[in-house]
Amino acid sequence: MNEHGPVVYAGPQEPTGICYRLVMWEAGALPESSLAEWQSARKDLLAAMRDAGIKGARGKLAGLEKELRELNCRVIEGPLATCPRRALTCTRANALAAFLAREAGVLGFRLGACSVEVLLQAGEDCDPQAKQESWKQSVEGMEWSAESLCEALMPADAVRLLAEYRAADTLHESAVEDEAAAALESTPFRHVTVLAHEAVDALLPAEGRVLVDATLGGGGHSELMLQAGAEVWGIDQDPAARAAAKRRLAAYGDKLHVVAGNFRNAVALLQERGVQAVDGLLADIGISSPQVDCAERGFSFLNEGPLDMRMNPAAERSAADIVNTAAESELADILWQYGEERASRAIARRIVQERSKAPITTTTQLADIIATVLPRKGKQHPATRSFQALRIAVNDELGALEDLLHTGLSLLRSGGRFAVITFHSLEDRAVKRFFEQVTRPEIDRPEWPAPRPNPDYAAKLVFRKPITASEAELSANPRSRSAKLRVIEKL
Ligand SMILES: C[S@@+](CC[C@H](N)C(=O)[O-])C[C@H]1O[C@@H](n2cnc3c(N)ncnc32)[C@H](O)[C@@H]1O
Repeated sequence: MNEHGPVVYAGPQEPTGICYRLVMWEAGALPESSLAEWQSARKDLLAAMRDAGIKGARGKLAGLEKELRELNCRVIEGPLATCPRRALTCTRANALAAFLAREAGVLGFRLGACSVEVLLQAGEDCDPQAKQESWKQSVEGMEWSAESLCEALMPADAVRLLAEYRAADTLHESAVEDEAAAALESTPFRHVTVLAHEAVDALLPAEGRVLVDATLGGGGHSELMLQAGAEVWGIDQDPAARAAAKRRLAAYGDKLHVVAGNFRNAVALLQERGVQAVDGLLADIGISSPQVDCAERGFSFLNEGPLDMRMNPAAERSAADIVNTAAESELADILWQYGEERASRAIARRIVQERSKAPITTTTQLADIIATVLPRKGKQHPATRSFQALRIAVNDELGALEDLLHTGLSLLRSGGRFAVITFHSLEDRAVKRFFEQVTRPEIDRPEWPAPRPNPDYAAKLVFRKPITASEAELSANPRSRSAKLRVIEKL
């Protein structure tokens, strides 16, 4: 238990194949005598299991496995469950929870009074004990017992354990956000809003109007909407962004509703909260400056950090997972399709060569590998396009955008506005194509004798051409250089 109650978390990923249940605990939490009894009885049982395994004595093995589970439960987990509350969960539970929720392969976890139990998916090169050791290092000021428990689970048992976590999932978004909010004390969230007035004014914000900011970020656009009197539903998949926006916009009280989730599910997220129709929806696609600047998030090759790139730290696949496990052809396709990288095949080949020697785990390691294939020309770092491509793949950014485009209009009342800001041609192409598709009253084909009514016709263009940043904005914020705003209005 901690101040928030028992912390239990279950991610969205389902167990596939073998998983591990790992338990680690605070040094001194268990009496020395229990530990000694456990170590000696466990040693004997493991030796007997090895012999039974060699002899192929399956029935005996199953019995010994059961005995081992009972031993673990009686000597370790029993005393851990009754151990008085200690420093770990009082002060560090959220730090560890936030860390674990970002860890690749973690399906869920449960924090006890002075212990942590984690359900880990066994990947190809997964070394659960090494993982456990690195988690122990992740929480500063924490002293862990050198002993820990590592138990392989059959798929059905993993499914059962995850279901238990799901039933008790209390690591409500707030626990992760609390951690992010604490981090804001040391590193404030600084993101300069792009096309701020242009985008917000296009949604005609006013008292009595309900608007959705599908990419809340640091809350720059939302703030202008709130200042104009609108009620705002702000969605973001990043707990750090939500924490920053809540803090910045606290003065607007219940005019702002912050929603955790992916905007591709905007309709469901809002309907679950009783919102059926709104007057405007804005999406300012892409990542925020703090996401890029924080080395820990692994978006930038300029700072050494874990190769992560997940906007939602609880998402299934990090950049390291893709780089270390995707087939060479898949890697090449990602670099080509999302980064328009002409050397995609050569880079993919080199990545596969390098990862066969050792896993590629950091941003700078990957950037250096790419630089051996592509010599630096001009100002741009050779890894720029590959990093963009991986980021888009990790977050399925184009898929999420397509889903938002295809569902967003259904949320709008008649006369409601839909505005999207994009930062690169792949995104802008998707928005332009979709907006054309729904704003054309008729469609024509060479083989048709006459144009026919367009069944998708549902909106009109608010601006014929995309809005781009003014000279003043360009000189104040170079990031606005590639921004394009397109807006439609529902009929
Ligand atoms: C460019 S920033 C938005 C900045 C914001 N408009 C402001 O002025 O502060 C984009 C934000 O959208 C979030 N985001 C990107 N894709 C998302 C998705 N599919 N679902 C939910 N949030 C997403 C990112 O986490 C990031 O915080």
